[in-house]
Amino acid sequence: MTAPLTIAIDGPAAAGKGTLAKRVAHHYSLPYLDTGLLYRAVGRQILLAGSDPDDPSEAGAFARALDVAHLDDPTLRGHEAGEFASRVAVHGEVREALTEFQRSFAARREGAVLDGRDIGTVICPNARVKIFVTASPEVRARRRTDELLAHGRDDVDYERILAEVKARDERDSGRVVAPLRPADDAHLLDTSELDIDAAFRAACEVVDRVLAEP
Ligand code: DC
Repeated sequence: MTAPLTIAIDGPAAAGKGTLAKRVAHHYSLPYLDTGLLYRAVGRQILLAGSDPDDPSEAGAFARALDVAHLDDPTLRGHEAGEFASRVAVHGEVREALTEFQRSFAARREGAVLDGRDIGTVICPNARVKIFVTASPEVRARRRTDELLAHGRDDVDYERILAEVKARDERDSGRVVAPLRPADDAHLLDTSELDIDAAFRAACEVVDRVLAEP
């Protein structure tokens, strides 16, 4: 029997992995988990409670108490939740508390698509397909700026967003526990020059190639 089709999609902030992962999941009729939402939910709980995101044991306690039933809360997508998420994500205690939920989601018999930072390296090292999505910081900041403008925000500053994208990259890649990096067997997908349709086609080519393997 072939192993379930688990697809790990990792990459830095604003690389377009969420949109891509959702489309890939839909195309192959697989359940989808945006693992960033778990870290965002922990970050947001800490923010609301006025607790310290940089305290590992405090953040760990929030992660262990996390109720995953509310991951569809739209406030989790906001900028502040993302910043807090990146800060709580450096703690081993937090990552450990969130591991089991992600692994059991990935272990579904029908397969699954998970996107995040450490899916191919830590959560699902045996995933059948691993894709690492990148784009230059400038392209990612431009996309984020355009997205915010399209949502009617008028306080959007490209240079500030670029600085934030770079700071987030540094924190996500520089942390000691499960840093952002491509797995050795990941397929790199640079979307700097690709629109979402082209990125989707490239991702499907990777998946189809793996599915065609004997
Ligand atoms: O993908 P995102 O922007 O929603 O993620 C928010 C933060 O959560 C990101 O800066 C780092 C952290 N994260 C992580 O460390 N590991 C994951 N698998 C997903 C997100």
